[in-house]
Amino acid sequence: MQHSSRYIVLFALAVCGVCSIFVAVSAVSLKERQERNKAIDVQSKVLVLAGLMSEGERLSGEEIGARFSQSIESKVVRLATGEYDETIDADRFDQRSAAADLNTSREAPPNLAKVRRTPHHAVVYHVRDESGSFKSLILPIQGQGLWSTLYGFIALAPDANGIQGITFYEHGETPGLGGEVDNPRWKSLWIGRKAFGESGEVEIEVKKGTAGTPEDDPYRVDGLSGATITSRGVTGTLKFWLGEYGFGSYLNQFRAERGI
Ligand SMILES: Cc1cc2nc3c(=O)[nH]c(=O)nc-3n(C[C@H](O)[C@H](O)[C@H](O)COP(=O)(O)O)c2cc1C
Repeated sequence: MQHSSRYIVLFALAVCGVCSIFVAVSAVSLKERQERNKAIDVQSKVLVLAGLMSEGERLSGEEIGARFSQSIESKVVRLATGEYDETIDADRFDQRSAAADLNTSREAPPNLAKVRRTPHHAVVYHVRDESGSFKSLILPIQGQGLWSTLYGFIALAPDANGIQGITFYEHGETPGLGGEVDNPRWKSLWIGRKAFGESGEVEIEVKKGTAGTPEDDPYRVDGLSGATITSRGVTGTLKFWLGEYGFGSYLNQFRAERGI
């Protein structure tokens, strides 16, 4: 039997209506779970950088949360002043959305990392060892490579200068070229280097070619071969986020707190 055009259009509309209701209900009901998973993912990256979880270790969300809260405190800071802001819940704060929102961010001056806006607030992580002594300060960083924005963290020693590690957990650089930012060997080259020179300026950089040992060449890390643009992006990212428009004010506050 042949159906009329009216029947076909109404049938198609009904199918579209049912599907859109299904999609809308799923999106709303899964939103909370997605946000929880995102938070767990960030916690696991911070744990790995803090040396409290090994890369590839499989833990449940609850185990990650428990391990995180045992040794790590997330704190929200106001980037312009460097003060802590206790009115914002660090576990729920979405720094990327804040940076994208004109009301919760400010324009950044031209910079090598090509950061266009900085959020008014950012999350920092304080890591303590079993005895409660301060072990690391972990800061979120992000900047443009060749193809993509690289998102990562840097771990600083309690003197807010020594580098304990770096990680980029999200990027779209070419595997084998810029994607070598994920290479454990390259990441290990950062350990024991220094972020700031004698004058207090951000000195750390990824050079073209090979750097010396951390003792002889504390401010330089080997370039990624065939990936000068990504390497430059990493340098720019650190110069920006450790500098005046990034965590500069917070780092001054942190040093003052610790009598450095
Ligand atoms: C397919 C393809 C992928 C590339 N991916 C990257 C990359 O991820 N990062 C990067 O800096 N350069 C990448 N390059 C190379 C850049 O175009 C540029 O030549 C390079 O950054 C220069 O680095 P070099 O002076 O170390 O050779 C890629 C080139 C090609 C053809």
